[in-house]
Formats: sequence, C-alpha cells, structure tokens
Amino acid sequence: MAKSHVYRFIGMDDSSMKKILVTGGAGFIGSEVVRQFIRETPHSVVNVDKLTYSGNLESLKEVSGDPRYSFEHADICDGKALASIFERHEPDCVMHLAAESHVDRSISGPSEFIQTNVLGTYTLLEAARSYWQNLREEKKAQFRFHHISTDEVYGSLGENGLFTEETPYQPNSPYSASKASSDHLVRAWHHTYGLPVVTTNCSNNYGPYHFPEKLIPLIILNAVNGKPLPVYGRGENVRDWLYVEDHARALRLVLEKGKAGETYNIGGRCEKTNLEVVQTICAILDEVFPSRAPHASLISFVADRPGHDYRYAIDASKIERELGWLPEESFDSGIRKTVRWYLDNPEWVNHVTSGAYRIWIAEHYERGHS
Ligand code: NAD
Ligand code: TYD
Repeated sequence: MAKSHVYRFIGMDDSSMKKILVTGGAGFIGSEVVRQFIRETPHSVVNVDKLTYSGNLESLKEVSGDPRYSFEHADICDGKALASIFERHEPDCVMHLAAESHVDRSISGPSEFIQTNVLGTYTLLEAARSYWQNLREEKKAQFRFHHISTDEVYGSLGENGLFTEETPYQPNSPYSASKASSDHLVRAWHHTYGLPVVTTNCSNNYGPYHFPEKLIPLIILNAVNGKPLPVYGRGENVRDWLYVEDHARALRLVLEKGKAGETYNIGGRCEKTNLEVVQTICAILDEVFPSRAPHASLISFVADRPGHDYRYAIDASKIERELGWLPEESFDSGIRKTVRWYLDNPEWVNHVTSGAYRIWIAEHYERGHS
C-alpha cells in the first residue's frame, strides 16, 4: 500500500483515537475494513462477528495481535450481548457489515437472511440507540451508525441507465429484499429517533479473502483445479465491479465525512458481462498458470438463477463530488491482483475449501466458552 493512502480522520489528530465497532469484521469486506483501520490509522476496532460459514478469523491474522484490535464472538440478533459490548467498549461509531450476503443461498433458504439482515439490524439499531442516547453531548454529536448496503436494493436495470441515490427501491431476491428492509429501518431510526446514521449502497466487490461461493473466487479456484466454470444462463448479465480495497477506503471516507441522514452510492464505473469476467480470469490464468491452458475450455453454461437481475450499474457521482472519492484500481489491475492472491495463498484457500477454518469455533465450544 502506497504511503499516499495513509489516512486520518479530518479534525482529529493522532492523539484523538477513535474506537470503531465493526460488525461482520471476519467477512470479506469487513476484514478489509478492519485491516485498513489497524494498518493505516491510529484508531482501534472492536470486531463483532458470529462467525457463520463466511466469517473467517484467518483473514484477520495480520491484525489479531495488535492491542488496538479486539474480537467479540456475538450474534447481532442477541440484544443482551450487544448491550454488554456497547457498555464495555464504549465505541465512537458503528460500521455495520454483518449480513447473510449470498443471493443463491437466499433463494434456497431465505430464513437466515430475514433473521440476520432484518431482525439483526433492528436489534443492533436498538442497542446503538440506547447506548447513544446516554452519551455525553460531544460524543453523542460525533457518533455515527454507518450501515453498509448493496446496490441490489434498487432492482434490475435494462440496457441503459444507472442507479442513483434517488432510484426507487425494487429488490428482487430474498437477499436484496432483506437488505432493503434493513436500509429502511436505518433510515427510520434517523428520522424518528435522530440516530446519526449514514448508509452506503455499493456494487459488486471482488478481491482477496472472498469466500469462494461468489463468481470471481469460484471461477479462479475451479479453473486452477481443472473444474467446470459455471456460467448462469448465457453469461450476459452485467455487474459493476469494485476492488474491495477501494470499497473499504470509500467506507472510511463516508464514516469520516458523510453527512448524517444521507446515503451514498459506491461503484467503480466498471460494467462487465459475467462471460467477460470469466474469460478475463481464464486469459490471466493462461499466462500465470499455463499448465492447464486454455482455461476457457472449462466454461460451462448452466441453468440460470431464478429471478436473475439483468444489470447493475452505479452512478457514483455524489460520493465523488461531495467527498472526493475515486477508486484506485482498474478492473484489469484489480483482477490480476486477485488472481495472484488466490495463487499465492494456498493455506487460506485450503482451509476454506476443506472447512478447517471453522475448527476455531469447534475448539472454542469444546473448551466450554459461550
Ligand atoms: P460476508 O458474507 O463475506 O461476511 C459477512 C460477515 O458477517 C461474516 O463474517 C459473518 O460471520 C458475519 N455475520 C453473519 N451473520 C451474523 C450475525 N447474525 N451476527 C454477527 N455476525 C454475522 O459478506 P461481505 O461480502 O463481506 O459483505 C459485507 C456487507 O457488505 C454485507 O452487509 C453486504 O450486504 C454488503 N455488500 C456486499 C457486497 C459484495 O459484493 N460482497 C456489495 C455491496 C454490499
Ligand atoms: P455473485 O458473485 O453471486 O454476486 P451477485 O449475485 O450478488 O451479483 O454473482 C455475480 C454474477 O455472476 C451474477 O450475475 C450471477 C453470476 N454467477 C454465475 O454465472 N455463476 C456462478 O457460479 C455464480 C456464483 C454467479
């Protein structure tokens, strides 16, 4: 990471360290947010995570020994546990990333999505509100509840147009409907109770530490293992890709400078059809992992996802204009880094694919901890 990325909260010098409560910090995006905070700022982080199948403490090895990092193994649906965490840690702000995040899982089993994304967000909002109400004035005024959401709440685009912050919500999958519900709850907690919230809606992320059920890591790992590369339908659906480090930088900026009550769209202006993405990964692997070339021969068109949204594309001009954010990676540079990362990190990959990364939880419970 270049020195120019080193970041400070505006109006705060290094002596005014903040404590940030991050939910879902063991997940793909949350772990990047946590790693950036510990690496690039003087602030401390409390990571609240239930460690579902997609939560992985191995993604946090780099920061786990840092005195500014602490971990709370808790479910955001557990109000008592949250109250105790707020009381013990006294955070200055909350970044809420914990969620069930995979559309295909939401289609085969929506229940967990309603539980965590809707009821969990409600429970977290209530815990945050009762903590915030009792803060002294200065800390109360600076408090932020930053809700991290998705562009999928806006529904599906045709060939033209972009999602803006004013686009009406029209979620189509159980996942996007649960995220839309949580966005509405967050908005209402601001409007009704004055809780200082800010919401961001981001396009598809990719990069290191991504659980290999999502398109990009799945294709990379299947390709290097000579397995079929499943492309839904004809591969014509379009997603707007953003490198995860750029998303995390945007989130930190919004936390710092975003106006309470506002929402900000985040996206990389980087639309690709799924087939283009898969072919690009295959071409990179042909270069850097030539033993199985041509990888594109593994492409396999499979049954389409039910209700598959055709196209997502973000108009990010508000965050660019008002907060001065711009992504630093192009798709070409980001996807090359991503492929390289999966090739260079066989231990992380093997532990995820074998399930060994979950041994921590089993051991923890065997020792009788709650
Ligand atoms: P992820 O599935 O990789 O991580 C989710 C994390 O939340 C995991 O660590 C999991 O253990 C934790 N978690 C799940 N249920 C929990 C519960 N009940 N209590 C506490 N922790 C719980 O997801 P991600 O891709 O990192 O996404 C993070 C957030 O960003 C989500 O809110 C998602 O909707 C949003 N988002 C994701 C993308 C994307 O492309 N991945 C794009 C835009 C927005
Ligand atoms: P995904 O990574 O699941 O993200 P999302 O559904 O949130 O956009 O899927 C990205 C796109 O890739 C989406 O259009 C579905 C498609 N896809 C495939 O074609 N094959 C796959 O195996 C997967 C997981 C997704």
